[in-house]
Amino acid sequence: MSKAQTRLPPPTFAEAKNSRQKARAAGLDPDRWYAVEYASAVKKGQVREVIFWNTSIALYRGEDSVLAAMQNRCPHRQLKLSHGAVDKCSLRCAYHGWSFNRDGRLEDYSHDNFGKPLIKRQVKTYPVQVRYGLIWLFPGDPELAGEHRIPEIPELSGTDPWAHFATDLTWRTHHSMVMDNICDFSHAFLHRKYQPFTGATLTHHEADEDRVYLTYDTYLAGGRISGIFVDRNRVNTRAIELCYQYPYQWTNTGDSIKNWSFLLPIDERTTRVFFLFYFDALKIPLTAIKTPKWLTQLVLNIAKPLVFRPILAEDGMALEAEQVGYEAHWDAPPIELNPVVPLFQRLTARKWQNYLERNTPAPLDCLAHEIT
Ligand code: FES
Ligand SMILES: [Fe+2]
Repeated sequence: MSKAQTRLPPPTFAEAKNSRQKARAAGLDPDRWYAVEYASAVKKGQVREVIFWNTSIALYRGEDSVLAAMQNRCPHRQLKLSHGAVDKCSLRCAYHGWSFNRDGRLEDYSHDNFGKPLIKRQVKTYPVQVRYGLIWLFPGDPELAGEHRIPEIPELSGTDPWAHFATDLTWRTHHSMVMDNICDFSHAFLHRKYQPFTGATLTHHEADEDRVYLTYDTYLAGGRISGIFVDRNRVNTRAIELCYQYPYQWTNTGDSIKNWSFLLPIDERTTRVFFLFYFDALKIPLTAIKTPKWLTQLVLNIAKPLVFRPILAEDGMALEAEQVGYEAHWDAPPIELNPVVPLFQRLTARKWQNYLERNTPAPLDCLAHEIT
Protein backbone atom coordinates (compact mmCIF):
# COMPACT_ATOMS: atom_id res chain seq x y z
CA MET A 1 0.00 0.00 0.00
CA SER A 2 1.45 3.42 -0.94
CA LYS A 3 1.99 6.26 1.49
CA ALA A 4 -0.86 8.19 -0.14
CA GLN A 5 -3.28 5.33 0.44
CA THR A 6 -2.34 5.09 4.11
CA ARG A 7 -2.74 8.87 4.29
CA LEU A 8 0.47 9.65 6.05
CA PRO A 9 0.56 13.38 6.68
CA PRO A 10 2.71 15.52 4.39
CA PRO A 11 6.38 15.68 5.36
CA THR A 12 7.70 18.30 7.72
CA PHE A 13 10.15 20.88 6.45
CA ALA A 14 13.06 18.76 7.65
CA GLU A 15 11.65 15.60 6.06
CA ALA A 16 10.69 17.16 2.72
CA LYS A 17 12.40 15.61 -0.30
CA ASN A 18 11.87 18.28 -2.97
CA SER A 19 11.31 22.03 -3.18
CA ARG A 20 7.55 21.67 -3.56
CA GLN A 21 7.30 19.65 -0.35
CA LYS A 22 9.70 22.09 1.32
CA ALA A 23 7.62 25.08 0.28
CA ARG A 24 4.39 23.42 1.41
CA ALA A 25 5.86 22.88 4.89
CA ALA A 26 7.57 26.28 5.18
CA GLY A 27 6.40 29.24 7.19
CA LEU A 28 6.98 32.85 6.18
CA ASP A 29 9.85 34.64 7.88
CA PRO A 30 8.52 36.38 11.01
CA ASP A 31 11.25 38.98 10.60
CA ARG A 32 9.14 40.87 8.07
CA TRP A 33 6.14 43.20 8.32
CA TYR A 34 2.76 41.54 7.74
CA ALA A 35 -0.63 43.10 7.05
CA VAL A 36 -2.95 41.62 9.66
CA GLU A 37 -6.12 43.69 9.68
CA TYR A 38 -7.83 46.78 8.28
CA ALA A 39 -7.12 49.87 10.35
CA SER A 40 -10.85 50.60 10.39
CA ALA A 41 -11.61 47.15 11.87
CA VAL A 42 -10.00 47.91 15.23
CA LYS A 43 -11.75 50.88 16.75
CA LYS A 44 -10.83 52.77 19.91
CA GLY A 45 -11.26 50.49 22.91
CA GLN A 46 -11.43 47.30 20.82
CA VAL A 47 -9.20 44.23 20.97
CA ARG A 48 -8.82 41.55 18.27
CA GLU A 49 -6.98 38.27 18.06
CA VAL A 50 -4.52 38.01 15.19
CA ILE A 51 -2.73 34.73 14.44
CA PHE A 52 0.61 34.62 12.70
CA TRP A 53 1.81 31.06 11.99
CA ASN A 54 0.10 29.58 15.07
CA THR A 55 1.20 32.45 17.31
CA SER A 56 -1.73 34.29 18.82
CA ILE A 57 -1.35 38.05 19.19
CA ALA A 58 -3.70 40.48 20.94
CA LEU A 59 -4.09 43.62 18.85
CA TYR A 60 -5.88 46.55 20.44
CA ARG A 61 -6.47 50.26 20.10
CA GLY A 62 -6.26 52.35 23.25
CA GLU A 63 -8.62 55.16 24.11
CA ASP A 64 -5.95 57.50 22.71
CA SER A 65 -6.36 55.78 19.29
CA VAL A 66 -2.89 54.26 19.41
CA LEU A 67 -2.59 50.62 18.35
CA ALA A 68 -0.60 48.07 20.31
CA ALA A 69 0.05 44.36 19.98
CA MET A 70 1.20 41.85 22.54
CA GLN A 71 1.46 38.16 23.24
CA ASN A 72 -2.08 36.90 23.56
CA ARG A 73 -1.55 35.00 26.78
CA CYS A 74 -1.93 36.25 30.30
CA PRO A 75 1.04 35.07 32.35
CA HIS A 76 -1.27 34.31 35.29
CA ARG A 77 -3.53 31.49 34.06
CA GLN A 78 -2.66 31.63 30.36
CA LEU A 79 -6.00 33.06 29.21
CA LYS A 80 -6.00 34.85 25.91
CA LEU A 81 -5.79 38.56 26.64
CA SER A 82 -8.09 39.13 23.67
CA HIS A 83 -10.90 37.81 25.92
CA GLY A 84 -10.25 40.87 28.06
CA ALA A 85 -10.95 44.54 27.52
CA VAL A 86 -9.14 47.74 26.74
CA ASP A 87 -8.83 50.00 29.76
CA LYS A 88 -7.57 53.45 28.74
CA CYS A 89 -4.32 52.56 26.97
CA SER A 90 -3.84 49.13 28.49
CA LEU A 91 -5.27 45.65 28.07
CA ARG A 92 -6.98 44.09 31.06
CA CYS A 93 -7.32 40.32 31.37
CA ALA A 94 -10.86 38.96 31.57
CA TYR A 95 -10.26 36.63 34.51
CA HIS A 96 -8.62 38.41 37.47
CA GLY A 97 -8.32 41.79 35.84
CA TRP A 98 -4.60 42.19 35.69
CA SER A 99 -3.75 44.98 33.32
CA PHE A 100 -0.81 45.22 30.91
CA ASN A 101 0.40 48.43 29.36
CA ARG A 102 1.65 48.90 25.80
CA ASP A 103 5.13 47.84 26.80
CA GLY A 104 3.73 44.55 28.08
CA ARG A 105 4.36 45.47 31.70
CA LEU A 106 1.94 44.49 34.41
CA GLU A 107 0.76 47.85 35.70
CA ASP A 108 -2.29 47.03 37.76
CA TYR A 109 -3.34 43.99 39.76
CA SER A 110 -5.41 45.92 42.28
CA HIS A 111 -8.38 43.62 41.77
CA ASP A 112 -6.42 40.99 43.61
CA ASN A 113 -6.02 41.22 47.38
CA PHE A 114 -3.76 38.23 47.63
CA GLY A 115 -0.49 40.09 47.42
CA LYS A 116 1.80 41.13 44.64
CA PRO A 117 1.99 38.57 41.79
CA LEU A 118 5.37 36.99 41.31
CA ILE A 119 5.73 37.92 37.67
CA LYS A 120 9.34 37.90 36.69
CA ARG A 121 8.86 38.78 33.08
CA GLN A 122 6.82 41.12 30.96
CA VAL A 123 4.57 40.11 28.11
CA LYS A 124 6.16 40.19 24.67
CA THR A 125 5.04 43.10 22.51
CA TYR A 126 5.14 43.58 18.74
CA PRO A 127 5.92 46.63 16.61
CA VAL A 128 2.80 47.98 14.89
CA GLN A 129 2.32 50.39 11.99
CA VAL A 130 -0.56 51.55 9.83
CA ARG A 131 0.02 51.95 6.07
CA TYR A 132 -2.43 51.97 3.17
CA GLY A 133 -5.36 51.50 5.52
CA LEU A 134 -3.89 48.26 6.85
CA ILE A 135 -2.42 47.38 10.23
CA TRP A 136 1.04 45.83 9.96
CA LEU A 137 2.78 43.75 12.61
CA PHE A 138 6.36 42.60 12.89
CA PRO A 139 6.01 39.16 14.52
CA GLY A 140 9.72 38.38 14.71
CA ASP A 141 12.69 39.99 16.42
CA PRO A 142 11.73 43.64 17.10
CA GLU A 143 15.39 44.59 16.72
CA LEU A 144 15.06 43.79 13.02
CA ALA A 145 11.87 45.79 12.46
CA GLY A 146 13.82 48.75 11.10
CA GLU A 147 15.82 46.63 8.66
CA HIS A 148 12.84 45.35 6.74
CA ARG A 149 10.37 47.84 5.39
CA ILE A 150 6.71 47.75 4.55
CA PRO A 151 6.60 48.02 0.73
CA GLU A 152 6.66 51.57 -0.57
CA ILE A 153 3.69 52.34 -2.82
CA PRO A 154 4.20 55.90 -4.11
CA GLU A 155 0.86 55.82 -5.98
CA LEU A 156 -0.97 55.44 -2.66
CA SER A 157 1.18 57.85 -0.69
CA GLY A 158 1.14 61.61 -0.70
CA THR A 159 -1.74 63.99 -1.23
CA ASP A 160 -3.19 62.60 -4.45
CA PRO A 161 -3.32 58.81 -4.25
CA TRP A 162 -4.69 56.73 -7.12
CA ALA A 163 -8.16 55.31 -6.90
CA HIS A 164 -7.88 52.04 -5.04
CA PHE A 165 -9.54 49.41 -2.94
CA ALA A 166 -8.48 46.63 -0.62
CA THR A 167 -10.17 43.30 -0.24
CA ASP A 168 -9.24 40.14 1.62
CA LEU A 169 -10.04 36.47 1.76
CA THR A 170 -9.14 33.72 4.20
CA TRP A 171 -8.52 30.41 2.51
CA ARG A 172 -7.93 26.95 3.95
CA THR A 173 -4.72 26.60 2.05
CA HIS A 174 -0.99 26.90 2.59
CA HIS A 175 0.50 30.30 1.74
CA SER A 176 2.86 28.80 -0.85
CA MET A 177 -0.13 27.60 -2.88
CA VAL A 178 -1.48 31.14 -2.83
CA MET A 179 1.82 32.49 -4.13
CA ASP A 180 1.91 29.88 -6.90
CA ASN A 181 -1.62 30.85 -7.82
CA ILE A 182 -1.24 34.61 -7.97
CA CYS A 183 2.00 34.46 -9.98
CA ASP A 184 1.15 31.63 -12.34
CA PHE A 185 -1.05 32.72 -15.25
CA SER A 186 -1.54 29.21 -16.63
CA HIS A 187 -4.98 28.94 -15.01
CA ALA A 188 -7.06 31.07 -17.37
CA PHE A 189 -9.43 28.11 -17.64
CA LEU A 190 -10.51 28.58 -14.02
CA HIS A 191 -11.45 32.17 -14.82
CA ARG A 192 -13.11 31.51 -18.18
CA LYS A 193 -16.26 33.30 -17.06
CA TYR A 194 -14.59 36.63 -16.08
CA GLN A 195 -11.43 36.37 -18.24
CA PRO A 196 -9.07 38.57 -16.19
CA PHE A 197 -6.27 37.13 -18.36
CA THR A 198 -6.22 34.79 -21.35
CA GLY A 199 -3.63 33.21 -23.59
CA ALA A 200 -0.66 33.86 -21.31
CA THR A 201 2.88 33.26 -22.54
CA LEU A 202 5.80 33.60 -20.17
CA THR A 203 8.16 36.08 -21.85
CA HIS A 204 10.83 36.66 -19.22
CA HIS A 205 11.83 35.56 -15.75
CA GLU A 206 14.70 36.11 -13.42
CA ALA A 207 15.35 35.26 -9.79
CA ASP A 208 17.70 36.43 -7.09
CA GLU A 209 18.01 35.99 -3.34
CA ASP A 210 14.87 37.99 -2.55
CA ARG A 211 12.55 37.83 -5.52
CA VAL A 212 11.29 36.17 -8.65
CA TYR A 213 10.44 38.66 -11.39
CA LEU A 214 8.51 37.64 -14.49
CA THR A 215 6.51 38.95 -17.40
CA TYR A 216 3.73 37.47 -19.48
CA ASP A 217 2.22 38.44 -22.76
CA THR A 218 -1.47 37.96 -22.13
CA TYR A 219 -4.77 39.63 -22.93
CA LEU A 220 -5.92 41.35 -19.74
CA ALA A 221 -9.34 42.41 -18.49
CA GLY A 222 -11.18 40.59 -21.25
CA GLY A 223 -14.41 40.27 -19.28
CA ARG A 224 -17.60 41.96 -20.42
CA ILE A 225 -17.77 44.47 -17.56
CA SER A 226 -14.10 45.22 -16.96
CA GLY A 227 -13.32 45.30 -20.68
CA ILE A 228 -15.47 48.35 -21.41
CA PHE A 229 -13.77 50.51 -18.77
CA VAL A 230 -10.16 49.68 -19.59
CA ASP A 231 -8.55 52.12 -22.02
CA ARG A 232 -6.68 49.86 -24.40
CA ASN A 233 -5.40 52.79 -26.48
CA ARG A 234 -3.66 54.35 -23.50
CA VAL A 235 -2.72 51.25 -21.50
CA ASN A 236 -0.93 48.19 -22.86
CA THR A 237 -3.26 45.43 -21.75
CA ARG A 238 -1.39 42.73 -23.64
CA ALA A 239 1.44 42.30 -21.14
CA ILE A 240 1.90 42.22 -17.38
CA GLU A 241 4.84 42.33 -14.98
CA LEU A 242 4.72 40.32 -11.76
CA CYS A 243 7.05 39.86 -8.89
CA TYR A 244 7.22 37.60 -5.87
CA GLN A 245 9.08 40.09 -3.73
CA TYR A 246 9.43 37.98 -0.63
CA PRO A 247 7.09 37.74 1.22
CA TYR A 248 4.86 40.01 -0.88
CA GLN A 249 3.66 39.98 -4.47
CA TRP A 250 2.93 42.77 -6.94
CA THR A 251 1.71 43.16 -10.50
CA ASN A 252 1.84 46.03 -12.98
CA THR A 253 -0.17 46.42 -16.16
CA GLY A 254 0.99 49.30 -18.33
CA ASP A 255 1.98 51.46 -15.35
CA SER A 256 -1.74 52.11 -14.96
CA ILE A 257 -3.29 49.08 -13.25
CA LYS A 258 -1.37 47.74 -10.29
CA ASN A 259 -1.83 45.54 -7.29
CA TRP A 260 -0.06 44.15 -4.25
CA SER A 261 -0.95 40.96 -2.44
CA PHE A 262 -0.02 40.62 1.21
CA LEU A 263 -0.18 37.13 2.69
CA LEU A 264 -0.81 36.46 6.35
CA PRO A 265 0.16 32.84 7.12
CA ILE A 266 -2.20 31.85 9.94
CA ASP A 267 -1.13 28.22 10.14
CA GLU A 268 -0.01 25.33 7.95
CA ARG A 269 -3.31 25.26 6.09
CA THR A 270 -4.86 28.68 6.57
CA THR A 271 -3.86 31.90 4.86
CA ARG A 272 -5.48 35.30 4.85
CA VAL A 273 -4.64 37.43 1.85
CA PHE A 274 -5.05 41.20 1.57
CA PHE A 275 -5.27 42.39 -2.03
CA LEU A 276 -4.66 46.05 -2.75
CA PHE A 277 -5.65 47.18 -6.26
CA TYR A 278 -5.01 50.69 -7.60
CA PHE A 279 -5.73 52.32 -10.95
CA ASP A 280 -4.56 55.64 -12.34
CA ALA A 281 -7.70 55.99 -14.48
CA LEU A 282 -10.23 54.10 -16.57
CA LYS A 283 -12.18 55.37 -19.56
CA ILE A 284 -15.78 56.36 -19.94
CA PRO A 285 -17.37 53.52 -21.95
CA LEU A 286 -17.75 54.09 -25.71
CA THR A 287 -15.47 57.15 -25.50
CA ALA A 288 -11.75 57.80 -25.20
CA ILE A 289 -12.30 60.07 -22.19
CA LYS A 290 -10.31 59.31 -19.07
CA THR A 291 -12.39 58.92 -15.96
CA PRO A 292 -11.83 61.53 -13.26
CA LYS A 293 -10.56 60.08 -10.02
CA TRP A 294 -13.92 60.13 -8.27
CA LEU A 295 -15.47 58.15 -11.12
CA THR A 296 -12.55 55.70 -11.23
CA GLN A 297 -13.09 55.14 -7.53
CA LEU A 298 -16.83 54.67 -8.01
CA VAL A 299 -16.29 52.10 -10.77
CA LEU A 300 -13.79 50.24 -8.57
CA ASN A 301 -16.20 50.25 -5.66
CA ILE A 302 -18.84 48.66 -7.89
CA ALA A 303 -16.39 46.26 -9.58
CA LYS A 304 -15.05 44.96 -6.27
CA PRO A 305 -18.11 42.80 -5.43
CA LEU A 306 -19.17 42.23 -9.03
CA VAL A 307 -15.86 41.27 -10.63
CA PHE A 308 -12.85 41.12 -8.34
CA ARG A 309 -14.26 39.10 -5.47
CA PRO A 310 -15.93 36.51 -7.72
CA ILE A 311 -12.62 36.01 -9.55
CA LEU A 312 -10.78 35.61 -6.25
CA ALA A 313 -13.48 33.22 -5.04
CA GLU A 314 -12.67 31.02 -8.04
CA ASP A 315 -9.04 30.98 -6.94
CA GLY A 316 -10.11 30.15 -3.39
CA MET A 317 -12.16 27.19 -4.57
CA ALA A 318 -9.22 25.80 -6.51
CA LEU A 319 -6.68 26.48 -3.75
CA GLU A 320 -8.72 24.86 -1.00
CA ALA A 321 -9.19 21.82 -3.22
CA GLU A 322 -5.47 21.80 -3.99
CA GLN A 323 -4.73 21.78 -0.25
CA VAL A 324 -6.96 18.74 0.25
CA GLY A 325 -5.35 17.07 -2.74
CA TYR A 326 -1.86 17.80 -1.50
CA GLU A 327 -2.55 16.38 1.95
CA ALA A 328 -3.74 13.14 0.38
CA HIS A 329 -1.20 12.92 -2.44
CA TRP A 330 1.81 14.94 -1.35
CA ASP A 331 4.14 12.26 -2.70
CA ALA A 332 2.68 12.31 -6.23
CA PRO A 333 5.41 13.34 -8.67
CA PRO A 334 5.26 17.08 -9.35
CA ILE A 335 4.14 17.87 -12.88
CA GLU A 336 4.79 21.56 -13.41
CA LEU A 337 4.63 23.15 -16.82
CA ASN A 338 5.28 26.77 -15.85
CA PRO A 339 9.04 27.06 -15.18
CA VAL A 340 8.59 29.92 -12.69
CA VAL A 341 6.51 27.93 -10.22
CA PRO A 342 9.48 25.92 -8.91
CA LEU A 343 11.31 29.23 -8.48
CA PHE A 344 8.59 30.56 -6.18
CA GLN A 345 8.74 27.37 -4.17
CA ARG A 346 12.52 27.48 -3.90
CA LEU A 347 12.43 31.11 -2.73
CA THR A 348 9.85 30.29 -0.05
CA ALA A 349 11.80 27.25 1.13
CA ARG A 350 15.16 29.04 1.11
CA LYS A 351 13.88 31.97 3.16
CA TRP A 352 12.36 29.62 5.72
CA GLN A 353 15.59 27.66 5.91
CA ASN A 354 17.47 30.92 6.49
CA TYR A 355 15.05 31.86 9.24
CA LEU A 356 15.42 28.49 10.96
CA GLU A 357 19.19 28.75 10.80
CA ARG A 358 19.09 32.22 12.38
CA ASN A 359 16.88 31.11 15.24
CA THR A 360 16.78 28.55 17.94
CA PRO A 361 13.50 26.64 17.93
CA ALA A 362 12.03 28.64 20.83
CA PRO A 363 8.33 29.34 20.30
CA LEU A 364 7.56 32.74 18.83
CA ASP A 365 5.49 33.83 21.80
CA CYS A 366 8.17 33.20 24.39
CA LEU A 367 8.27 35.65 27.23
CA ALA A 368 10.73 38.52 27.07
CA HIS A 369 12.46 40.93 29.40
CA GLU A 370 12.68 40.75 33.16
CA ILE A 371 10.52 43.09 35.18
CA THR A 372 12.67 45.27 37.30
S1 FES B 1 -5.71 34.78 34.22
FE1 FES B 1 -5.26 36.78 33.63
S2 FES B 1 -5.36 37.91 35.46
FE2 FES B 1 -5.69 35.85 36.07
FE1 LIG C 1 -6.54 33.35 -10.42
